[in-house]
Amino acid sequence: MRSLSLFMTAIGVIFLSFQGRPLTEAKISSLPQPSLKGDVSVEEALARRRSIRSFSEEKLTTEEISQLLWAAQGITQRGTGFRTAPSAGALYPLEVYLVTEDGLFHYMSQGHRLERLEDSDLRNELAGAALGQRAVREAAVDFVVTAVYSRTTRKYGPRGERYVHIEVGHLGQNIHLQAVALGLGSLSVGAFSDEQVRRVLSLPKEEVPLYIIPVGHPK
Ligand SMILES: Cc1cc2nc3c(=O)[nH]c(=O)nc-3n(C[C@H](O)[C@H](O)[C@H](O)COP(=O)(O)O)c2cc1C
Repeated sequence: MRSLSLFMTAIGVIFLSFQGRPLTEAKISSLPQPSLKGDVSVEEALARRRSIRSFSEEKLTTEEISQLLWAAQGITQRGTGFRTAPSAGALYPLEVYLVTEDGLFHYMSQGHRLERLEDSDLRNELAGAALGQRAVREAAVDFVVTAVYSRTTRKYGPRGERYVHIEVGHLGQNIHLQAVALGLGSLSVGAFSDEQVRRVLSLPKEEVPLYIIPVGHPK
């Protein structure tokens, strides 16, 4: 009986330490399942959304980060792989990065996972690339959205560029509305140097940064 209870305690300790481990330590980490129910209606989120440029130091929880990433590019239909945001020809030309105190991460829609790319906090450098904007430096998390245009222009020719720009707007609004629903604030940032952002994030050559979205607790 005593050995059974020791065994159960050991299992409990292993389980708790696994639960308590920051997801971000691993090279690839699974994110918590997103919630499909919330307390804020779409109408309320639309009415309340405002650009927030000043954030407190409070970090986001892994659940909040997971929810925001899912809103941005989460897969909502198994089999087809269709996502929260529409995409011309379902070609998905956008990539989502996360810049936080804990490092730089890349979102993998497939499997709803995060890939760790860098351990250091790049928010200061990213703010430098965005004309020193304070919101980018202060936010708990900066989402950086990039595009691989060829995924879409290969099928649609030059008009594909327009489609990619429409899509990044969908993705951005999804993040903004989800942020409001979570009681968080967000900002659209378009004023930045593509080249500097590319350098700060060490982006692959074919990726063009299109959008930065700082998210955090409003001050
Ligand atoms: C494409 C785009 C780029 C923007 N870039 C910036 C920016 O670099 N810095 C900033 O402070 N606000 C930026 N904004 C936010 C606008 O200033 C803001 O949306 C506008 O003032 C209306 O306020 P609201 O968002 O609270 O409705 C941008 C908005 C959009 C749509």
